Amino acid sequence: MISELFDRNLRWAAGRTRMDPEYFRRLASQQGPEYLWIGCSDSRVPANEIVGLDPGELFVHRNVANLAPPQDANFLSVLQFAVEILKVRHIIVCGHYGCGGVRAALSGERHGLIDHWLQPVACLCRRDAAELDGILDFDARVNLVCERNVLDQVENIVGNPFVRDAWDRGQPLSVHGWIYSIQDGLLRDLETSVHGVEEPSIHRVRAQKPPPRRRRRGIAG
Ligand code: CO
Repeated sequence: MISELFDRNLRWAAGRTRMDPEYFRRLASQQGPEYLWIGCSDSRVPANEIVGLDPGELFVHRNVANLAPPQDANFLSVLQFAVEILKVRHIIVCGHYGCGGVRAALSGERHGLIDHWLQPVACLCRRDAAELDGILDFDARVNLVCERNVLDQVENIVGNPFVRDAWDRGQPLSVHGWIYSIQDGLLRDLETSVHGVEEPSIHRVRAQKPPPRRRRRGIAG
């Protein structure tokens, strides 16, 4: 029953006020979150809950497959407001294993409008096809793309003019890439954090990796 949600809301608001009578008055006056969360719309990944933060502590943007597309007005509006007005200290891109959006992009099947939204993930799958083809288990392949997708979104944010300008102004701001497991409720840091313009971009880190050593066809003996 949909009306049940109003009953639940009444109980929730009453509980909050009982614990802290000033709670809503204080919250209504202003928000001062330290974090911007960019996560997937998946109902099993509730941003505030999994990091144990209260209303007012996390500015949240969610979409299918936690994308941060450089041309998306919705995402860019959120990003600019978070960086320039709220002055968040951390931007967290949080993917999750078994993401349905990633699964759809990797499958190569047609699903309609969502295929356009998921095009960056499909491009990633083609880019890394050689490596992905070597993984026989489809779920394992999905999970690797889930991680790679987070790295790509971190890269988008690190290259974003709002973020570059903030760093040029000396504003403290870090960008992080995390992944969440629905299986056990735990977060994992993908260790791709960038704290300012001095940091090498992920691209540069990738490019610096030495190419795989070719076995020399030596002369036996
Ligand atoms: Co998802």
